[in-house]
Amino acid sequence: MYNNWEELEKSIINCRKCKLCQGRNHIVFAEGNKEADVMLIGEGPGADEDREGIPFVGKAGQLMNKAFDGLKIDRSKLYIANVVKCRPPQNRVPEEDEATACLDYLRNQVMLVKPKIIVLLGSTALKNILGKEYGITATRGKWIERKQIQYMPTWHPAALLRDEAKKIEFWKDLKEVCKKAREMNLEMEKN
Ligand code: URA
Ligand code: SF4
Repeated sequence: MYNNWEELEKSIINCRKCKLCQGRNHIVFAEGNKEADVMLIGEGPGADEDREGIPFVGKAGQLMNKAFDGLKIDRSKLYIANVVKCRPPQNRVPEEDEATACLDYLRNQVMLVKPKIIVLLGSTALKNILGKEYGITATRGKWIERKQIQYMPTWHPAALLRDEAKKIEFWKDLKEVCKKAREMNLEMEKN
């Protein structure tokens, strides 16, 4: 673990710790406020993210931005990262060895940001952060506290593209996050 951003960011530049390094154009490290109260964790970069080097800029990200706009969430106040930093081929779910190799970076990011709330976007984030025993269908929308961090699992925004009911639940879960953030006096909404 690195105790400063400079060393952590330097350590990942030429990372070849897993086979996802082979197909990548950009390592997608994160976006946002390094002092955020609220952090979001997705699965891994898609084609658009791999091209631009920024998380959640493709279709799923644009849908998420719409929810942010509707709920007056300020994206620049959040810290957004993924379980794996390089794009899995055909956007498949990251394999166990890939997630394991990459998770040290994410843990280090959490350690440095020190968020009070972490939103887990989808099954991959949920299982890799809280444990394989958790299922997204049963867990989403429910707060889970671990080591003084409040976790809110919800749908991955890509799942919303295919399912209108999930859109409503995603919105509801984000609204719950806003409510909790307000109660805890945290920064995430537009001023
Ligand atoms: N899906 C993810 O999980 N992360 C991204 O950054 C983009 C799409
Ligand atoms: Fe390294 Fe993570 Fe990319 Fe694998 S996915 S090569 S561990 S940065």
